[in-house]
Amino acid sequence: MPAAKTGQRAEHVAIIMDGNGRWAQARGRPRLFGHHAGARRVSEIVEACPELGVRYLTIFAFSTENWRRTQSEVTGLMTLFRRYILKEAQRLLDRGVRVRFIGDRDRLDPKLVRLMDDLEVLTRGNDHVHLTIALNYGGRDEVTRATRRLAREVAEGKLNPEDVSAETLSRFLDTHTLPDPDLVIRTSGEARISNFLLWQSAYSEYEFIDTLWPDFTAAHFARILDSFGKRERRYGAVGG
Ligand code: IPE
Ligand code: IPE
Ligand code: MG
Repeated sequence: MPAAKTGQRAEHVAIIMDGNGRWAQARGRPRLFGHHAGARRVSEIVEACPELGVRYLTIFAFSTENWRRTQSEVTGLMTLFRRYILKEAQRLLDRGVRVRFIGDRDRLDPKLVRLMDDLEVLTRGNDHVHLTIALNYGGRDEVTRATRRLAREVAEGKLNPEDVSAETLSRFLDTHTLPDPDLVIRTSGEARISNFLLWQSAYSEYEFIDTLWPDFTAAHFARILDSFGKRERRYGAVGG
């Protein structure tokens, strides 16, 4: 793969939306107050995508590790996801957004899973912006589930072990219809990936910013994308 030239656009941006709890804490409010404020930022960022040349946006909403939080926070988040889908569905449809969910649905409340399925079906004719919401998502969990399905195909004689390539494994991942992210942004000052898109981000650029997610605006987003345009991606080759 040749090195990409500078001035490039990020076609696929993935965001680890972190810092809701600290944002609320700084205001003396419960963590859920921060999650509600965080959810309100999502629409602004989704709506900024077309103008910024971002066709795919993938956001980390709940990780496979987030079950470790208190039951009241987890329940509050699950309620928030349900309400978010109900409230935003029409607007997403009208704005040409195609919504997909990645992550393991088996552990989620069936009522929430139904809303997720319905939103995917409702928006599947859209092609303007592809919004992927990672919910009960973990990179290791995703690769594990993919490997299990792949192993099943081998056991059933449908797949020859010699033919298994990186391409093959990619086809079993939740993200099989998406390009790899060009850029991964994490808010809130933490510089780690917390199990997000481990396989897919092999050659992504990273941007860690101190802003807490409920304070993240389209202007921050535009600035980050602008600086992404100046980066040189080499993919292991020699720069130009
Ligand atoms: C990110 O904000 C949202 C989720 C993980 C659901 P946090 O809730 O992690 O906020 P901090 O990191 O505690 O501030
Ligand atoms: C990552 O944030 C998960 C989401 C943003 C949904 P966390 O707040 O859960 O990550 P850690 O625990 O700080 O690594
Ligand atoms: Mg956090």
